[in-house]
Amino acid sequence: MQTRIEVGILGATGMVGQHFIKFLQGHPWFDLKWLGASDRSAGKKYRDAMTWNLTGVAPDSVANLTVEECKPGNAPMLLFSAMDASVATEIERAFAEAGHVVVSNSKNHRMERDVPLLVPEINPDHLQLVEEQRGRGWKGRIVTNPNCATVALTMGLAPMKQFGITRVVATTMQAISGAGYPGVASMDIVGNVIPFIGGEEEKIERETQKILGEFRGSHIEPLAAKVSAHCNRVPVVDGHTVTVSVEFSSKPPAEELRAAIDGFIGVPQQRRLPSAPLRPVVYMEQANRPQPRKDAERDRGMAAFVGRLRECPALDYKFVVLAHNTVRGAAGAAVLNAELMQSEGMLER
Ligand SMILES: NC(=O)c1ccc[n+]([C@@H]2O[C@H](COP(=O)([O-])OP(=O)(O)OC[C@H]3O[C@@H](n4cnc5c(N)ncnc54)[C@H](OP(=O)(O)O)[C@@H]3O)[C@@H](O)[C@H]2O)c1
Repeated sequence: MQTRIEVGILGATGMVGQHFIKFLQGHPWFDLKWLGASDRSAGKKYRDAMTWNLTGVAPDSVANLTVEECKPGNAPMLLFSAMDASVATEIERAFAEAGHVVVSNSKNHRMERDVPLLVPEINPDHLQLVEEQRGRGWKGRIVTNPNCATVALTMGLAPMKQFGITRVVATTMQAISGAGYPGVASMDIVGNVIPFIGGEEEKIERETQKILGEFRGSHIEPLAAKVSAHCNRVPVVDGHTVTVSVEFSSKPPAEELRAAIDGFIGVPQQRRLPSAPLRPVVYMEQANRPQPRKDAERDRGMAAFVGRLRECPALDYKFVVLAHNTVRGAAGAAVLNAELMQSEGMLER
């Protein structure tokens, strides 16, 4: 690309906003020029409006930008959203109405009938749903990425979809960074496991069915499989691990499942999108991998790591999958969605 596309971030001062800033540094297609947050932050230099909670410091090019209110006006056409969920519905809609493309990480619009819920390697065709948003009279569009644990689960299941998934039981071990900052109190999580994350199980179950569903012209037919999730917060900093049991309409041989995992690539790999990992799903042979501390950061945090594929006495097979929750499950996912849109010519004015 000759000229980079100017982009902005809604909710730039928060945890996910900071991950967007970090992930967009040096991006070959997108040039971060605009930052939005609440009226508490608006008018301040970015460096004064937030506390940088990632390693290192906020890049100078961003630290000196003045934070603006999240109101349509002078923001760039393409906006990444890391808005607080309590305000994201109205604000993202207002920007879409005003002609912006909002690539959102928030949960608010994910399950709406005309909003794509994308994992570009799995369901790039679902992007066509945005055409249905014309019916709302918007000049712009909203696309979304899934919940951070759903990303790991669906990337693990995607290569197996061809065998007819009928039932899934998934148990998550979710990192504390998924709860934002300050997140879970240290007294609650150090040396402990919390077997409840509010609203998470329902999100994982419904989002998985939508992502692995079929695009039917004007809507998504959800995957008919029953999905059951158990969610746990564990004392891990980054990386959500999910153990999965899966049943198929006709049980394939284990070698065929492995071959499907090893051969799995998607549109982002074929088009060499800038944030696409070389291989989206990497199988690890070692019996004790993947592990969040050793594997979550590999491949820039954009691949999912699968291991321990074996027979399951209750369903057909079981395995473990790991993905980086704030990269592949948040900022990196949204940036890859925008890259997919650009590769489809959808960001050209
Ligand atoms: N944390 C994760 O790992 C993770 C993963 C996946 C998805 N998510 C989702 O991503 C979103 C952001 O999460 P987070 O952890 O980054 O939250 P956060 O740290 O609380 O940040 C929220 C952001 O929203 C802004 N904001 C709050 N009220 C606003 C208002 N009335 N108008 C405009 N901006 C407002 C805040 O600005 P001020 O600083 O000015 O208040 C801040 O920039 C949430 O929807 C969350 O569910 C989070």
